[in-house]
Amino acid sequence: MNEQIPELREPLLQTDRVPLIAGNWKMNLDHLQAIALVQKLSWALKDARHDYGETEVAVFPPFTDLRSVQTLLAADKLSLVLGAQDVSPHESGAYTGDISAAMLAKLEARYVLVGHSERRHGHGESDELVGQKALAAHRAGLVPMICVGETAEDLEEHGAAAIPLAQLAAAVSSLPKDAEFVIAYEPVWAIGSGQAATPEQAEEVAKAIRESLRDLCGDERAAATRILYGGSVASQNVAGFLRQPNVDGALVGGASLKSDEFAKIVQFKKHVTGA
Ligand code: 13P
Repeated sequence: MNEQIPELREPLLQTDRVPLIAGNWKMNLDHLQAIALVQKLSWALKDARHDYGETEVAVFPPFTDLRSVQTLLAADKLSLVLGAQDVSPHESGAYTGDISAAMLAKLEARYVLVGHSERRHGHGESDELVGQKALAAHRAGLVPMICVGETAEDLEEHGAAAIPLAQLAAAVSSLPKDAEFVIAYEPVWAIGSGQAATPEQAEEVAKAIRESLRDLCGDERAAATRILYGGSVASQNVAGFLRQPNVDGALVGGASLKSDEFAKIVQFKKHVTGA
């Protein structure tokens, strides 16, 4: 007997939060490859009759691709949403190499990642800087997607939730109380490792994040905020995460670079339930 069958029949949970499937391309694809990927993705989702109102879909290309993708989305009236992978904490001025939140807003980006572990660890970004970036994004009308997560050592030493909650408090406390944001819980040990967290592990931390959000910004904001899971998400495991009451979507790295696989992830309800 297939032990998974009862689980597969369990209905996906209904909340008022619109699920969000986000593809973080990291440092992959030039602007021509970006156009090709977005075209293929939009065709795959059109074929699947994807309802963007039911599940929001966002892509986070490198900076050099944003203008090309924006132009394509506008020309073809595509409902995919644009995000950026980083933002300067500064408004403008002598910051060589930085990109401001206003520049991203002008490109019709809606989201920007802040605090991704590859920036925290690879570029020494502190909680304070992550908070400043989140605030800069908010001030320009963008929605910061605040990434939090523990390393394997943190997990062993402090358990799963302690570091993500500390990172969360630092970033959220830098924002005004009514600011909209998204949280992406990405255990560092699960990123690019092929070893995703279990749905139960993701839910445990997502639940703790939501509880902490109640203290940080009130019940209403906590109930409305989407918490995504990220780390080795694939079409085969995405539905397990989305079935958890506090997990509202996925932040997908490697699997977002393949249009068919990412389209399947977006269609998490259909391809698992067969609906
Ligand atoms: P992978 O999906 O490749 O593990 O990457 C996750 C991630 O870091 C998304 O931001």
